Amino acid sequence: MAEWPVHGRISGPIVMIGFGSIGRGTLPLIERHFRYDAARFTVIDPVDTDRALLDERGVRFVREAVTRENYRDLLRPLLTEGGGQGFCVNLSVDTGSVDIMELCREVGALYIDTVNEPWLGFYFDAAKGPEARSNYALRETTLAARRRSPGGPTAISCCGANPGMVSWFVKQALLDVARDLGLPDGEPTSREGWAGLMRKAGVQGIHIAERDTQRARDPKPRGVFVNTWSVEGFVSEGLQPAELGWGTFEPWMPENARTHEAGCGAAIYLLQPGANTRVRSWTPTARAQYGFLVTHNESISIADYFTIRDEAGAALYRPTCHYAYHPADDAVLSLHEMFGQAGERQPRWHILDENEIADGIDELGVLLYGHGRNAYWYGSQLSIEETRRIAPYQNATGLQVTSAVLAGMVWALENPEAGIVEADEMDFRRCLAIQTPYLGPVIGQYTDWTPLTGRPGLFPEDIDASEPWAFRNTLVR
Ligand SMILES: NC(=O)c1ccc[n+]([C@@H]2O[C@H](COP(=O)([O-])OP(=O)(O)OC[C@H]3O[C@@H](n4cnc5c(N)ncnc54)[C@H](O)[C@@H]3O)[C@@H](O)[C@H]2O)c1
Repeated sequence: MAEWPVHGRISGPIVMIGFGSIGRGTLPLIERHFRYDAARFTVIDPVDTDRALLDERGVRFVREAVTRENYRDLLRPLLTEGGGQGFCVNLSVDTGSVDIMELCREVGALYIDTVNEPWLGFYFDAAKGPEARSNYALRETTLAARRRSPGGPTAISCCGANPGMVSWFVKQALLDVARDLGLPDGEPTSREGWAGLMRKAGVQGIHIAERDTQRARDPKPRGVFVNTWSVEGFVSEGLQPAELGWGTFEPWMPENARTHEAGCGAAIYLLQPGANTRVRSWTPTARAQYGFLVTHNESISIADYFTIRDEAGAALYRPTCHYAYHPADDAVLSLHEMFGQAGERQPRWHILDENEIADGIDELGVLLYGHGRNAYWYGSQLSIEETRRIAPYQNATGLQVTSAVLAGMVWALENPEAGIVEADEMDFRRCLAIQTPYLGPVIGQYTDWTPLTGRPGLFPEDIDASEPWAFRNTLVR
């Protein structure tokens, strides 16, 4: 058996909230890469399907839902018992990330999650309206928590594959493009420096461009939502408004686009669900493809991070940034079926595990476009076969997420007083060094494709020929 590097020691208790596809896959990585007191490792989940995995390891299991009402009483003792610095790893749905993060900081524990999750009920509360149900609004609550209490125990917001790892990819991809354009600058050392380099490289925008080709052994039955990761998570975010970081170069906005009055101002949203909004994009396997413009924290955080402002605070430069997600074919079919029923989720759902997948890869990367070399995709092409070889209890999608959680946990242990941070603010080299052994081939590839390639075809189209990468051309209308 391979020798796994131990990256650090967790001195206090570990509390994992949620033991679904990502929790299950994170467990063996924690076991491999940290020293900790196994007697103080607790997993909390209202569902006990995979409890045997915990029992055989002597990990304590609390069968309960973490709620707005009970989270303090439930988590405080678990995170503090026996001394040392506790670590809360939140891999659940329907638990309030910001509240739990603030509690962790109060008791001096480290915290990490993979999504800025609201409490149960938020996603489907029609009374809230689209703006209040946006990720922009959720992210602003995290930024407000940071302003209320800067510094202090590290809490990492949104550190999975995306959001998470892709922010580290953006920096590596930008360095590659800058090198290939012959820009003499070295590696930036500040946020302003990174934003300056992106502007200088002429990057107009970034797609988080993903093609999941993992195929199920058995065809999708009718009436079942099938996915390679959380169905609840995907349906929830898919029914939020489509959202994107809004670039300063964009000459046109759709009629149903809205801006925000308050907050960082880096993003806009559309009055339509993201999982029913298609955009044109590119990955090495697909070459050109339609992806769904599902809202994600990184679309906003990356656009915000790379914004250059004047003294009055007005944005002088910002890249457009959004997700362009082609999920596994079964998930595409599932969405089609769901939207055919006016967005009502199928009565049953299923997450494909590593044994139910015949073949395929999760090709997940970032496409930096609009610069002197047109467009550059940089990312991971992890296959199900390699995943099965290198880590148990997960498919390729899962391992891209769990290895980012691992990297984030290591970074938190090494930077325990960094306050509330997003992946954009972490040391991308350190994180990728920890994560890359789990990512399969990590490649960079240029393309001369643009959203105008092959258009217009047989019909007239409303395109902007002067700005190939404009959202007007990317959005499928
Ligand atoms: N950033 C990323 O790249 C990324 C990728 C995949 C998943 N995610 C997120 O990670 C989380 C977990 O994903 P998953 O695929 O494991 O989902 P999953 O649906 O497989 O598992 C979620 C688990 O949370 C549990 N749960 C539900 N309500 C709970 C509560 N109140 N308290 C505690 N546990 C509760 C469920 O019983 C389930 O076991 C989701 O929020 C998902 O959106 C992020």
